[in-house]
Amino acid sequence: MDPVRVGTLVELDVGAPASGGGFVARAPDGRVVFVRHALPGERVVARLTAVTTRYLRADAVDVITASSDRVPAPCRLAGPGRCGGCDWQHVDLDVQRRLKAQLAADHLAHLAGIRCRVVVEPVTGDVGGLAWRTRVRFAVDGTGRLGFHQHRSRAVQVVGRCPVAVPEVSATGVTLSRWPGAVSVEVHAGDVSPNREDTESSATVVARRRGRGALARPEVEPGAVVDRRLACPPGSVFHEVAGRRYRVSAGVFWQAHAGAPAALVDAVLQGLAPASGERAVDLYAGVGLFSGALATAVGPTGSVVAVEGGAAACADARWNLRDLPQASVVRAAIDAEWVSRSMGPADLVVLDPPRQGVGAAVAGALGPAHPRAVAYVSCDPASFARDLRALLDGGMVLTSLRAFDTFPMTEHVEQVAILTTPGAAAR
Ligand SMILES: C[S@@+](CC[C@H](N)C(=O)[O-])C[C@H]1O[C@@H](n2cnc3c(N)ncnc32)[C@H](O)[C@@H]1O
Repeated sequence: MDPVRVGTLVELDVGAPASGGGFVARAPDGRVVFVRHALPGERVVARLTAVTTRYLRADAVDVITASSDRVPAPCRLAGPGRCGGCDWQHVDLDVQRRLKAQLAADHLAHLAGIRCRVVVEPVTGDVGGLAWRTRVRFAVDGTGRLGFHQHRSRAVQVVGRCPVAVPEVSATGVTLSRWPGAVSVEVHAGDVSPNREDTESSATVVARRRGRGALARPEVEPGAVVDRRLACPPGSVFHEVAGRRYRVSAGVFWQAHAGAPAALVDAVLQGLAPASGERAVDLYAGVGLFSGALATAVGPTGSVVAVEGGAAACADARWNLRDLPQASVVRAAIDAEWVSRSMGPADLVVLDPPRQGVGAAVAGALGPAHPRAVAYVSCDPASFARDLRALLDGGMVLTSLRAFDTFPMTEHVEQVAILTTPGAAAR
């Protein structure tokens, strides 16, 4: 191969999916190449985008032999050197799910020693993999225009309407405005449900300042929609899931896919099969999504403790669970010590940690609580697999595993594992 440096063109035969949205190929010198915008089985011309002693990165810029799984990207900004937001716009939607299943199964095998077939299920709430994202974080370029970072770059690809976002995000008009002084602008659109209180906004917008500089209010350009739908903080949106309404304040976590909350609540309830009178603990509870559903299921003789570290999320959770006396909210930074000292016994535990997972120490500390069943919800296959290993090492048994396509057009996937403790029965 000619000089191996960024920009060099190489011909590659493309293989299995890799974490990070690319696919594995081998350079002529034997180094692994992570190739984006390609598909397994393809022969492509790729431009190197990163060179290290151990591996290379590349973008497929020309397809010599195309896979039958390749489709025209629905977004005109997808492709090498453009928007870094979606890795798999060029992949047939069913095939995206098969590739995610393969990635998830590989992580489980390599990091947890679990060999199982993973099936990635679609969820309702998108249109052919588009129009699903209820929350979008835009980057801001030097002139205050909104867009998304290019792949592994600080450069911003300016966007008008993002086809992956729900239409209510675009309807705020944020991308028509300039946001000088902001480093990011996050829009969160709520359900436009018929019983929504009219006084509440249907979208919140949180602009974060660049450093300590001033954040100018957007200069609204002609055509921008800036009315009560656009609430510069503070503000809240509302979502309805399984018959309950959840308030989510600006900047507080909520699942990004419009259909994810209902799919995940259903999977957790099905897996845990909560019985009347049981005690449940919802760790990393956010605004109380799983707590609300569990509290209804265990009924007034049971109890649910929602544990969450964020003050604003706790305030939302208290509001969301206010009609359920069997539910309480505890603000705590969850770690192994908190679990050992403060959690107490539990029949059921939900774990829905951030991307980095719960870690072996927290997983190990759950054992003495002797839960009948644990539901582990995760959007990160690597930390999920490592934490499952720790829970299995602590004596739990994996009884079911489901995966959901809550991030179409990307390599990401949401998984729900149900684990049980042999011999543990409802208290
Ligand atoms: C992936 S979100 C899940 C939220 C909720 N279960 C849902 O589905 O809407 C993770 C939550 O854990 C919280 N969190 C992160 N680290 C935490 C910690 N060490 N202790 C308590 N809460 C934490 C975050 O504030 C966030 O609300």
